[in-house]
Amino acid sequence: MIPIPGPVRLLKLIPLAAGVLADSSICDVLNSRVPGRVSYSGDSIYTASLSSYYTGYERDLYPSCIFRPTSAAEVSKFLQFVGSDEYSTSPLPQFAIRGGGHTLFTGAANINGSVTVDMRSMNSLTLSEDRKIASVGGGSIFSDIYPRLVPHNLTVMGGRVPGIGVGGFTTGGGLNFLSREHGFSCDNIYGYEVVLANGSVIYASASSHSDLWLALKGGSNNFGIITRFDLATFPQQQMWGGIVLYNYTDSQVDAQAQAFSNFMDTANFDSAADMDLILNFENSGFEIGNALFYSKPVANPEVYREFTSLPSPIISTLSFNDVSGMVTQFGAYLPSTLNRATELVYSFKNANATIYKQLIKIWENECNSLRGIDGLEVQFLVQPQPVTNGTNSLGLTAGETDNVIGLVTVAYNNAADDSEALKGLQNIVNQQVALLQKAKLYLPFKYLNYADQSQSPFSSYGERSKAHLETVSERYDPKKMFQEGVPGGFKLFA
Ligand SMILES: Cc1cc2nc3c(=O)[nH]c(=O)nc-3n(C[C@H](O)[C@H](O)[C@H](O)COP(=O)(O)OP(=O)(O)OC[C@H]3O[C@@H](n4cnc5c(N)ncnc54)[C@H](O)[C@@H]3O)c2cc1C
Ligand SMILES: *[C@@H]1O[C@H](CO)[C@@H](O)[C@H](O)[C@H]1NC(C)=O
Ligand SMILES: *[C@@H]1O[C@H](CO)[C@@H](O)[C@H](O)[C@H]1NC(C)=O
Ligand SMILES: *[C@@H]1O[C@H](CO)[C@@H](O)[C@H](O)[C@H]1NC(C)=O
Ligand SMILES: *[C@@H]1O[C@H](CO)[C@@H](O)[C@H](O)[C@H]1NC(C)=O
Ligand SMILES: *[C@@H]1O[C@H](CO)[C@@H](O)[C@H](O)[C@H]1NC(C)=O
Ligand SMILES: *[C@@H]1O[C@H](CO)[C@@H](O)[C@H](O)[C@H]1NC(C)=O
Repeated sequence: MIPIPGPVRLLKLIPLAAGVLADSSICDVLNSRVPGRVSYSGDSIYTASLSSYYTGYERDLYPSCIFRPTSAAEVSKFLQFVGSDEYSTSPLPQFAIRGGGHTLFTGAANINGSVTVDMRSMNSLTLSEDRKIASVGGGSIFSDIYPRLVPHNLTVMGGRVPGIGVGGFTTGGGLNFLSREHGFSCDNIYGYEVVLANGSVIYASASSHSDLWLALKGGSNNFGIITRFDLATFPQQQMWGGIVLYNYTDSQVDAQAQAFSNFMDTANFDSAADMDLILNFENSGFEIGNALFYSKPVANPEVYREFTSLPSPIISTLSFNDVSGMVTQFGAYLPSTLNRATELVYSFKNANATIYKQLIKIWENECNSLRGIDGLEVQFLVQPQPVTNGTNSLGLTAGETDNVIGLVTVAYNNAADDSEALKGLQNIVNQQVALLQKAKLYLPFKYLNYADQSQSPFSSYGERSKAHLETVSERYDPKKMFQEGVPGGFKLFA
């Protein structure tokens, strides 16, 4: 259980240096300027907001208050006020921006002291008349949007498990069931309503502020608070897929390594197929298997036969479902919350089965040496990278179908195990990366939404993209509000 502090506002008691605004007085002034949207420690809204972060790292931060705006105008009032001369003392007052709260690491979407802006009250959904655009509020959660689009036979490209926010997911890229056909979720966003550091509300699209439009496709929380996303919709009926797990044996590892290598072979490319090779370790043992998704209503399509013909699964949920049902089902298989959890990401060109097997063996060996850590889970996910159409800031080549994302996550219960667990995680990834480098398959791209704070996703986009992001930041945020005032997440000038 995560302890939630009682009603006493401890942070009010912290003495402040002269000239620096008391954190809690930001909250009180905000409360008077935008009444009814501020909640404090001990309030049920505050407690519910805090307890709904995915990891304990984020739940362990206690803002002086949580601000839940309901409109761009309220967000604008907030930014005008924190950026005003009255308050733009040095250092700038700090705050955090929170979407679905699914980033694993500390401080990405929450903050100790000061204000967390929880965007989730902004969850409206409207369809354009031609049904090609779904406009969603800046704090929308994809698993709330999907069921509302199902009756229209439409979907948007969002998270594949419940609870993922449009804010973090799309500004970091976005890997969805349709990503092999249409690219990252961010490739498919027509426009953004953004509140800039000075409180101006602007619309960024291909024809207006297109520099900012492009920067928001991969640039995370560095440019403004996004209050509306105009997402491309896609016709969608039943899809097919689910989770299949097997006992972990050498012959299963061999078969999966071969099947995945073949799946990623450009000759076998099928744009309707998005999948994961799943390796799980808990203290009780190892598991191997797949998440298989097919966006068309076709049972057991050819592209997955090498997987689905493997005998004797211990779990199989393969079936037809709508997108909403598929997301619920995938979520039911993952932990709905974690205490301490850290992930490291990398990417590479498709390899042969031998290399995949070696990657898995590296993971297996290290899992054995971590065995016994309380609450241990070590997951190794291998998944196809979206086939980007290039309309983003990620610095990737459009149309490549054989890039792979490797993701290793370690989760456990107690801070006392931090150093051992994190060392183990780093050992796995160091060895895997070294193997891929030796095989000349390693790629520099680090997918931001899967990256740890110790990694540098923006540098991995390449000089040109990073320079563009920096220029846009200087243009739209000259006072560096979103660099220094919003310390959480990935920062451009860090
Ligand atoms: C269980 C699980 C499953 C996942 N599955 C997938 C998946 O299928 N595909 C995939 O691509 N990724 C997946 N992810 C990764 C996920 O996309 C990222 O964690 C993403 O950043 C989550 O966005 P969020 O809004 O929920 O998170 P938050 O932590 O709330 O936000 C992430 C960052 O975005 C910023 N931000 C949020 N909203 C706004 C806004 N309106 N304006 C400006 N900045 C904002 C925050 O400040 C923060 O730094 C998964 C993660 C988990 C934990
Ligand atoms: C945040 O505050 C809590 C409670 O005061 C404290 O335990 C924790 O260490 C702080 N975290 C950071 C990152 O400062
Ligand atoms: C959605 O598709 C179903 C099945 O094809 C069809 O019966 C229904 O009329 C469609 N609904 C809309 C709103 O197009
Ligand atoms: C990428 O997809 C978006 C949305 O479908 C589209 O507007 C854009 O033109 C595409 N870009 C390219 C380069 O094809
Ligand atoms: C999987 O392993 C368990 C535990 O060792 C065993 O009971 C079960 O029979 C195995 N299942 C298959 C399909 O091999
Ligand atoms: C697999 O790929 C590696 C690296 O390119 C190469 O050294 C090895 O010979 C290949 N193995 C097989 C069986 O093709
Ligand atoms: C707000 O900032 C933007 C981007 O820097 C600028 O274009 C605009 O003029 C500013 N608005 C005001 C009212 O200062």
